[in-house]
Amino acid sequence: MSKRKIIVWTVLAPFVAIQFIRPNRNNDGKVPGLVFVNLYAVPDRLDQILREACYDCHSNNTRYPWYTNFQPIGWILAGHIKKGKSNINFSEFNSYSSRRQISKLKAISDQVEDNKMPLKSYKLFHKKARLSAQEKKLIITWMRNKADSILVNEGVETNIDKGFQDHTSLKKSFCK
Ligand code: HEC
Repeated sequence: MSKRKIIVWTVLAPFVAIQFIRPNRNNDGKVPGLVFVNLYAVPDRLDQILREACYDCHSNNTRYPWYTNFQPIGWILAGHIKKGKSNINFSEFNSYSSRRQISKLKAISDQVEDNKMPLKSYKLFHKKARLSAQEKKLIITWMRNKADSILVNEGVETNIDKGFQDHTSLKKSFCK
């Protein structure tokens, strides 16, 4: 083999080899988000947005575009799913305590407001996950209202809630 061929193979071989190490797929065969929709009677429009932008990493059902068959892209996605699900899993939202539901609903609203979610790398590949101002507003207000209504219905008190109220009253005084 020529020197050049050896160099090319040394570079390519590991890349070829890693293609055989595939992460397990995150697919429970159920409609993603159904649990969340049933729990809170989520409006269709919001369900659609969450489906396009969040469920791939935060539910038990991920859509896998063709390029995720290539490693290390598949590995990176698997890592995001694992971390994402351990933070919030919309497929298991009904198993959270009221207190946890409230704090997660607020976290969702905050992360979207601060443009931290969906992840940048995900938006690069998923046009529909680049949320418009209107879509963000729908998520933010709906999640906050839902958190408030659980709070009122169940009388759950959390520290986060206090921070949240301070935050809104602060906003109100600024926006007069
Ligand atoms: C590409 C995968 C991916 C997508 C898509 C995604 N997330 Fe995440 N999400 C993550 C990861 C990974 C973490 C953990 C981040 C960390 O630990 O730094 C996370 C964390 C979060 C958290 C923090 C949870 C907590 O308890 O503080 C919230 C809230 C959240 N995501 C909401 C959303 C929402 C809402 C969407 C859709 C608009 C979304 N995410 C889309 C991967 C994703």
